Amino acid sequence: MSTTNKHDSGAPAARVVPVDLGDRSYEVCIGPGVFAFAPGIARKKLGDKCRSAFVVVDSGLPEAASQRAVAALRASGLNATSIALIPTEHDKSLQSLGHIVTEMTRRKLERSDVVIALGGGIVGDLAGFAASVYRRGIAVIQCPTTLLSMVDASVGGKTGVNIDLAGDGADLKKNMVGAFHQPIGVLADLDTLATLDDRQFAAGLAECIKHAMISADFGDPDLLAWTEAHFSRLSKTNAPLLAELVQRNVAVKARVVAGDEREEKDGGRALLNLGHTFAHAIEALPGARGVLRSGTELPGDIHHGEAVALGLRAAAHTSVKLGLIDASYANRIGALIDAAGLPAKVRGLPSADNLIERMSHDKKHIGGKIRLVLPCGIGQSRIAENPEPSTVCAAIETIRAQ
Ligand code: GLY
Repeated sequence: MSTTNKHDSGAPAARVVPVDLGDRSYEVCIGPGVFAFAPGIARKKLGDKCRSAFVVVDSGLPEAASQRAVAALRASGLNATSIALIPTEHDKSLQSLGHIVTEMTRRKLERSDVVIALGGGIVGDLAGFAASVYRRGIAVIQCPTTLLSMVDASVGGKTGVNIDLAGDGADLKKNMVGAFHQPIGVLADLDTLATLDDRQFAAGLAECIKHAMISADFGDPDLLAWTEAHFSRLSKTNAPLLAELVQRNVAVKARVVAGDEREEKDGGRALLNLGHTFAHAIEALPGARGVLRSGTELPGDIHHGEAVALGLRAAAHTSVKLGLIDASYANRIGALIDAAGLPAKVRGLPSADNLIERMSHDKKHIGGKIRLVLPCGIGQSRIAENPEPSTVCAAIETIRAQ
């Protein structure tokens, strides 16, 4: 897979990563101002029959950003309208899906029109799912505005909503209902990252560290070393470095997805769940709080990326105990997580047995057995079926804050 530094539609200059999926292939364009490509992609992929663009906007984005997006689409001749969505896991629901598709019906979107998902991963998943079911499927362009959604959620076509079993958020089953629905393009506009708060930015770095831990099998064996070497200069406003970070991470994700689009192969897309079995159980705990290496407790709910960072630590510790990696590699991963300002520990964990029980209910697990993705070498990870519970318990204790 090759990456180039120019998009065929001209300015603004962008880095382009292809996602090779046969007749569903598309490009991820990365750079400042690349939202400007949206009308061109719609025209190229959908033709003149595409008359309307329905923009689903993250309510956390500055009003001016969504107004600019709608204005750019209108200037190209598209009939563009928008709705705002609140980006919480609680709002990633069947009710919100109903609201979006009702608005699409009210605004008379046709099969040949396009949905534009402008926001973080929650908005991308919801808008993508709405696009997959409205009139049995219309096109979507993913326009991620967070680092996490740029490097992970917007690429690969996973869409969906959560199911709130208890009705009060206490038993939220994540992504239980959804569809694979590949976008016709992804526009990672780096200008949007400047508006992120520091915790959101750090949360995206957790997924970058995850990619570095699998990258050797997906065409970029140097990604971990490159990430370590450049970490101290990474910031929301260092556009050249961000462009390189996003491009290399998207390229890893694109190779994973191209090889196993529907997560059917061992050693394929399932490896992207590294750290996530721990993370899903932790982020579902009401009252769990991340604690930095310095001892500072992070206020409010744990972000997904923060839970992933804790999961990466626990996975690395499990691998050390199983003899899959040595402690020095686990320490390198821990040092990157610390440097990103991500948590070292979590306050509010139940007993390790209880957490393992919750992990075994993760929807990826068959028959209540635990399947963990574990690091097994530098830049390499693999699936472990039913690792010894006492080893996993010991790993959980290493991330427990008293
Ligand atoms: N975020 C994991 C995946 O796309 O498979």
